[in-house]
Amino acid sequence: MNEMRELSEKRSRRTFLKSSGVAAAGLALGGYTGKAIAQSANETLALNGGPKAVTFPSDRLSAATKWPRFGDVEKQAVWEIMDRSVGDVYNDLPVLEKEWCEYNKVPFAKAHCNGSSTLTSMFFALDLPPGSEIMVPSYTFFATILPMRFFQYVPIFIDLNPRTACFDLEYAAKHLTKNTKAMVPMHSWGLPCDMDEICKFADEKGLIVCEDAAHAHGASLKGKKMGAWGQIAIFSFQASKPLPAIEGGMGCYQTREYYERAAAFGHYEDPPKFPEDSPNRKYDGTGYGQKYRIHPIAAALARTQLAVLDERNAGVRKRIRELNDRITQLPGLSEPFCRKDVERVYYANNMILLDEAKAGITRETLLKALKAEGVWAGSGAYPEQHKYKIYSEEKWWHHKPVIPETLPGTEQVNRSCIYLPILYEDLPEVNEQYAKAFEKVWANRDKLS
Ligand SMILES: Cc1ncc(COP(=O)(O)O)c(C=O)c1O
Repeated sequence: MNEMRELSEKRSRRTFLKSSGVAAAGLALGGYTGKAIAQSANETLALNGGPKAVTFPSDRLSAATKWPRFGDVEKQAVWEIMDRSVGDVYNDLPVLEKEWCEYNKVPFAKAHCNGSSTLTSMFFALDLPPGSEIMVPSYTFFATILPMRFFQYVPIFIDLNPRTACFDLEYAAKHLTKNTKAMVPMHSWGLPCDMDEICKFADEKGLIVCEDAAHAHGASLKGKKMGAWGQIAIFSFQASKPLPAIEGGMGCYQTREYYERAAAFGHYEDPPKFPEDSPNRKYDGTGYGQKYRIHPIAAALARTQLAVLDERNAGVRKRIRELNDRITQLPGLSEPFCRKDVERVYYANNMILLDEAKAGITRETLLKALKAEGVWAGSGAYPEQHKYKIYSEEKWWHHKPVIPETLPGTEQVNRSCIYLPILYEDLPEVNEQYAKAFEKVWANRDKLS
């Protein structure tokens, strides 16, 4: 009986490899990866009792992947704030805003206490009629969507393009209605959405483009920074982000009107600073009802991090290339597609996509084998907002959002993603050992049950 089962499992495994076209893929592959796979073919997987491919000490790896990274400069900046008296304690705020405008080449910027409050201020600034529909990816943090309800807007959940894990413009075009007024693409994990195409479409249809750039500090398309494409864009400076200030946020605005409304929403002290003809000046002393001022220590930290942002992003890019250029040659492994005119950044992890059929291995088995080799690899679904309770209860909305039955692109991304850690130090031996671990697993994947 057991023999029968074994035989049938072997047979279905062979059929799987054959039908996915990867039988003997190691040998069939030309060039570097083919050789690397062939060399690893006689090695024993750690899962089957062989030695681990990754021998780099884990405490050293923990130190090299630690985020955020603050040092003496940051400690000094924090210390200086604590020494100030109340009249000077907020001095860094306008300086940070000016530096942010210069760095991103935007006319107006306003710092807020976090990315979520920046988004809420953004929705207030839009000043759209109740019932206005706003297109937004479901694959995002709640704050990209949920504050809409305070202004009686209605989210339209947009799918991802599974090739990029970003906003699918084609899907959006199919879901446009007469009530659609705006779009909020989100640059997932630091990869810019196709902002040129999105802005062109929006222009044709009379839509406002906003950006959730909470993951994409310093990323650009055609040399233009994320944050400078939309009429309004938001950034988060929360501790995990590419520019961390532990907490904090920043809004970018292309017009004075949006800037003033967003600033006055959460900054009661701002209206008298606006020009004489501003319709927002009369709200001196109250603003529009919230207090969203960034903490001065966060503003000071953000300034130190902005000074090293480009260098940091370049270092991360270089180290990710070292590894990904190798492992994405393996059948079934790819990265989210990045256009040639894009300079992406990386937020939180190095996301790799697995095509199980092409690879001839399931994600679960691959992760088990990689972990046994000593690779810090993980998976896990990023939220699909439309699945949360609050979106399906009528009482919270001007009219109830349409909950899609399925978002196939989004589901595919969540089904196929593998997360690898980001190195913040140059450690070529780690990339070498990680690449070796992948090649070893690929060479021996027919031995994995
Ligand atoms: C896509 C996205 N937008 C907005 C935010 C909100 O930022 P914050 O945590 O600073 O409120 C986050 C935070 O993780 C995010 O991931």
